[in-house]
Amino acid sequence: MSIDDTEHSLANLDSFGDVAAEDDAVLDYFLSTRAVDVVENGRSFLVLGRKGTGKTAIVRYFTEGRSTTISKSLSLRGYPWNIHAQRIDRGASDIEAYVSSWRFLIAVQLASLVISGNVSGRCAGFLKKFLEDNYGGTEPQLSDVLRPSRLTLSKFSLQPSVMGNQLGGVDLERSTKDHQLGLELNALSTSIIDAVLELAADNNLGSLNLHFDELDQGLSRIDDKRRKMLIGLIIASREIRRESGKIGGKINPVVYLRSDIWDELQFSDKNKVSQTAAFHLGWDKVSLIDLVNERIKAKLGDSAGWESIATPDLMRGSQSKWNHILARTFLRPRDVIQFLNIALSKSKARDEHPIRFTNQDIVDSRDEYSAYLKQELDDEIRQHWPHWDEALQACSALSTLTFDKEDFRREYDKRKSTSNAVPTDEALRLLHRFSVIGYERRSGYGGSSWAFQYTDPEAGWDNTATKFKVHLGLKEYAKLRETRQ
Ligand SMILES: Nc1ncnc2c1ncn2[C@@H]1O[C@H](COP(=O)(O)OP(=O)(O)O)[C@@H](O)[C@H]1O
Ligand SMILES: [Mg+2]
Repeated sequence: MSIDDTEHSLANLDSFGDVAAEDDAVLDYFLSTRAVDVVENGRSFLVLGRKGTGKTAIVRYFTEGRSTTISKSLSLRGYPWNIHAQRIDRGASDIEAYVSSWRFLIAVQLASLVISGNVSGRCAGFLKKFLEDNYGGTEPQLSDVLRPSRLTLSKFSLQPSVMGNQLGGVDLERSTKDHQLGLELNALSTSIIDAVLELAADNNLGSLNLHFDELDQGLSRIDDKRRKMLIGLIIASREIRRESGKIGGKINPVVYLRSDIWDELQFSDKNKVSQTAAFHLGWDKVSLIDLVNERIKAKLGDSAGWESIATPDLMRGSQSKWNHILARTFLRPRDVIQFLNIALSKSKARDEHPIRFTNQDIVDSRDEYSAYLKQELDDEIRQHWPHWDEALQACSALSTLTFDKEDFRREYDKRKSTSNAVPTDEALRLLHRFSVIGYERRSGYGGSSWAFQYTDPEAGWDNTATKFKVHLGLKEYAKLRETRQ
């Protein structure tokens, strides 16, 4: 008897997966989305999304999954940002001060990637020699690329030159008066990339993809220096893609970045990049049920799906269980998986067969889920606003899901500590930016709706709004009740 002949029961489901792709068996039930297409065919090199929207999942698909591309994952978790900060290019503008060091890092990783395949050609020896001389092997760790104080170049390999003078090496450690680092590094990077492209052409390789992930790791606050370094990586990736594109090469560095961090970067081509080369990860009701069904099928068999593991009766207000859950998320896979895992543990406490989700399971999951959501928001918001808790406490004090601006002002002012520099109006704007609250938007003919950032990003912020609503996922944590009509 195959598993498909039995009635499906949650008793046979261990979990809906881990909430972070690093720890999840995501490749067993990966859902290929448009994001995968646009990265694969090189249309986007910047993938943006909130925490939990699937950035790392895509990286894992390209680097460990079924994708046939030549890809390498470059996680910046534990990256020595301080060492990188010292490789500042004093000859470049403030905003571009880290472009040359990132270009070099990309070049070295490309060299390592191309060498790791079974390639042959004149340049293979050059690149190998360069990597071995400087890093003791052909696979330097990301954290080691900029670490040497001096890069050496042997005579008969890569021959970068600056203004007609061939370089014998490049000092990475420089005095504060020296302005040459960028010039020399760029020359070296260009000669490495030329060699990479020549090898790729000689060996008929497809595009070479580098996936930069976890750029936000180890950050308690995003300072100016880190912002400049992130900008540097984005500009360097764009330049290298362009240059290689012009000569028919296919070099494709891809940067995966949390959208709240992207929102705070400022550089001259940002709009252009945003419109032409960025992809915003987004999920909806349909794609999220697809994602959940993939997991259920992988674990319970092909004939299983959401319908077979949940009772069909509706919840209060004639709402389906699925809609009830989704209304408590930010439409992120992470939230959905978390909610379902909590509900699973509730349902499994019952001694019955088969076990399916009941309405009560869903209701009983809300407390624990709400505490999770608050913690997720902490991870995102604290970096921008350490005292955001005080604003949430002000919401709690108002005790209903919906509230007026002036009431909020009163409660917030009472709680605002001296080190919290965010005034009321700015507090509301920030809460809206992270979808903690939505504002009331009036439409014609006396109707109104709640505009949340995650459902209505185009609506933006409205300075003049006076009525707000806290996100349903926080209702239990903040101990709020429905507003009486
Ligand atoms: N395309 C996908 N297919 C299947 N699961 C996904 C997909 N995208 C994201 N997930 C799941 O959603 C959760 C969050 O994804 P993750 O990649 O960790 O987000 P991020 O890196 O953006 O914070 C993980 O459990 C991950 O496995
Ligand atoms: Mg991630």
